[in-house]
Amino acid sequence: MVFESYCELQEIIMKKRVLSGMRPTGRLHLGNYLGAAKGMLELQNNPEYETYFTVVDIHATTTPYDAKTLRQSARDVYIDYLSVGLDPEKSGITIQSDLADLITQLSFYFSSVESVARMQDLPTFKEKVRQHPHNVTMALLNYPLLMAADILIYKASLVPVGIDQEPHLEVAREVARRMNDRFGMDFPEPKRFSTKAEYVPSLLGEGKMSKTVEGSAIDLNDDLDTILKKLSKAPTDSGQGEVVPTTGGVANLFQFVELFQGSPKRAEYESQYTGNGVRYGDLKKELAQAIFEELRPIQEKRKELELDPEFVDRMILEGAEKSRIIAEGTVREVREKMGLR
Ligand code: TRP
Repeated sequence: MVFESYCELQEIIMKKRVLSGMRPTGRLHLGNYLGAAKGMLELQNNPEYETYFTVVDIHATTTPYDAKTLRQSARDVYIDYLSVGLDPEKSGITIQSDLADLITQLSFYFSSVESVARMQDLPTFKEKVRQHPHNVTMALLNYPLLMAADILIYKASLVPVGIDQEPHLEVAREVARRMNDRFGMDFPEPKRFSTKAEYVPSLLGEGKMSKTVEGSAIDLNDDLDTILKKLSKAPTDSGQGEVVPTTGGVANLFQFVELFQGSPKRAEYESQYTGNGVRYGDLKKELAQAIFEELRPIQEKRKELELDPEFVDRMILEGAEKSRIIAEGTVREVREKMGLR
């Protein structure tokens, strides 16, 4: 390879690898978009990083799931990835099971350097055992090693995920260290990485926006009418008071205003609140419009993609082929170093 300049060579050597994954638990909503997907986009478009994104469908099999819908759910999240602007030209975008042979293989090798007791002691494992006491499977126990394989197969050093995933990243670092010490691998110790993710509250006034809580989320494909209907159910108060609420429905509404209409608009409503009063009907109408404007381009892109399923299939296949080259290299190296053929 010939490099135009020393700078270009440096840029290629220095690029930090990023990997992030999402479980295929249905289409994305506004919370996933502002909380995760927008951060992924920023990383993808920043030349300092080499980015990989994956829809982790094998992880879905570690807890009870519907085999009839999994394939479609994974494809749906993949299309959502493309709709929000993840670009197969710039990032390696995969559905995990397209590389099942390599990723599950690597996770098995990782299981030789990790103890059963350590896996059983993880808070995420214990919680799943409480949720599904009759489904404490080997796959569930192995979940963190599968995740470590997702990350380390690309030798990624940065993983943009929520704080709840920190225990899993600790396992990934432990595995990386042991593979390096025992077998002379050169895995990085991957760190959790926070993007400028926004905390997106539930429409209902408590907790964060979630798919599983009825009425709490705006979906990426909601039209203006649906958004307005959902907003109209968001709890409010009389619209007036001495101090602006910092928790509950009104606080959340003001937070939405800030996210979609900016902080000056929020300040305006806040001074109405301590002054003549806020008219929530008008606020919600304007807010619905602003949210819809943000979603419109994503929805248009999605429509385009839905009209061309062959294109989507090709993107999924090419994404897998591109990522496979790197994944194969890592697995080959691990096998050699572990004394396997
Ligand atoms: N465990 C992650 C979650 O529940 C999903 C996941 C699997 C993941 N593999 C990953 C996230 C690799 C980041 C990188 O959200």
